[in-house]
Amino acid sequence: MTAPDSSPAIEVEHLRVRRGGRDVLHDISLTVPRGCITGLLGPSGCGKTTLMRSVVGTQLVAAGSIQVLGEPAGSSRLRARVGYVTQAPSIYDDLTAAENVGYFAALYGRSSQDANDALTAVGLGEHVRQRGNQLSGGQRTRASLACALVADPELLVLDEPTVGLDPVLRVELWRQFHALADQGRTLLVSSHVMDEAEHCDQLLLMRDGHLLAQLSPAELRAETGETSLENAFLALIKMGQPS
Ligand SMILES: Nc1ncnc2c1ncn2[C@@H]1O[C@H](COP(=O)(O)OP(=O)(O)O)[C@@H](O)[C@H]1O
Ligand SMILES: [Mg+2]
Repeated sequence: MTAPDSSPAIEVEHLRVRRGGRDVLHDISLTVPRGCITGLLGPSGCGKTTLMRSVVGTQLVAAGSIQVLGEPAGSSRLRARVGYVTQAPSIYDDLTAAENVGYFAALYGRSSQDANDALTAVGLGEHVRQRGNQLSGGQRTRASLACALVADPELLVLDEPTVGLDPVLRVELWRQFHALADQGRTLLVSSHVMDEAEHCDQLLLMRDGHLLAQLSPAELRAETGETSLENAFLALIKMGQPS
């Protein structure tokens, strides 16, 4: 038996990204451990999507290095090993949920049973015959999550998957993320809602293109003396500012 790989799932060193003629990520270095949920948190416009695009290899970077599962980010060998769900998830409106996932299953050489398993894993079992345009916002998000899951990726990069969902669905989705992490998958999940930090094992806190801190929710509370993670985030920002 080979020992589990203890190297980080993602290693970013001195990443700098320019968009629209200005720096939007400034010298970011971070690691994402395997087999757990890392939350990428920060206000809208702070650079979460840009960082995720860099990790999955769809973003032109100005400087720095990114290793993903031991390969350079964007390497063709990572194609089936990394699943990415974009901020505005896209599925085919004229195909049913089952057909959407079946399409990605075929693309990755997976079986129709794998497609069914992915739909069940995201709790869409009862809606498999509904077309994309007949699914609610939350169901569309889960359908596109199933499209990413069907390749059985080791790393899932999910950009604000819970935004706009009602609280019950949000809790359900986090439960599914934990189940995936328990199976050994690595999840990088972004949100601009600080409360969501509670569901994560590790946090990456961003502001204005800078990484403020990398720590656990418990460490964030201990460091700032705040119980609410929202207040803790604000306290952390204040601590970083010259008095
Ligand atoms: N296509 C683009 N062209 C130019 N600037 C962009 C583009 N997309 C995003 N930006 C800028 O990059 C910064 C980071 O954006 P983004 O990564 O989308 O942040 P977040 O996902 O945290 O809301 C913002 O200042 C945004 O205005
Ligand atoms: Mg974004």
